[in-house]
Amino acid sequence: MKTLVVFYSFSGNTRQMATVMAEAIGADLLELKPAHEVPPKGLKRYVWASKACLMKDRPALSPLDRDPRDYDLVLVGTPVWAWTYAPPLRSFLQAQPLGGKAVALFCCHGGNPGKVFAKMRDALPGSRILGESDFREPLKHAPEECAGRAREWAAAMLKAATPPA
Ligand SMILES: Cc1cc2nc3c(=O)[nH]c(=O)nc-3n(C[C@H](O)[C@H](O)[C@H](O)COP(=O)(O)O)c2cc1C
Repeated sequence: MKTLVVFYSFSGNTRQMATVMAEAIGADLLELKPAHEVPPKGLKRYVWASKACLMKDRPALSPLDRDPRDYDLVLVGTPVWAWTYAPPLRSFLQAQPLGGKAVALFCCHGGNPGKVFAKMRDALPGSRILGESDFREPLKHAPEECAGRAREWAAAMLKAATPPA
């Protein structure tokens, strides 16, 4: 079973969970990086990000160094921005539909994930969604507990995706 963990991370939380998961199950990692964006700092960042989410922006991404079509199971991770997934993930999902694949969803948030998983599911028609997991700012709160949970969840997703022998 070839497994990919694809994620966007702005301040490192989702990257940390993605890395822990990939190590735990021997998956490849693919980090989504906007090609040109320089987000504003401070409060302006929230206004900019909220507008980008509301307008359903799809920023251009740097070239991907993995091809999602090569994988059977894809774990998809995002920070929550304005109660939804971050715009670089929208770019990825529109360009690389994961229809027909087993997919598992995870997010990092500050305490109010809103409807992020429902929205991710809507963006993944035709995928077999195996499960969801959320983490509250793991770099700040209980990093070891979150890492343990991430490992266990990734292993459970791999097991769920593996056909019986
Ligand atoms: C622009 C912006 C918008 C955010 N919106 C939300 C939100 O709606 N709900 C929430 O719980 N956290 C929100 N957060 C907090 C992040 O989801 C949280 O810090 C997350 O762990 C960041 O992940 P990252 O470090 O991988 O970027 C927001 C953060 C930013 C920068």
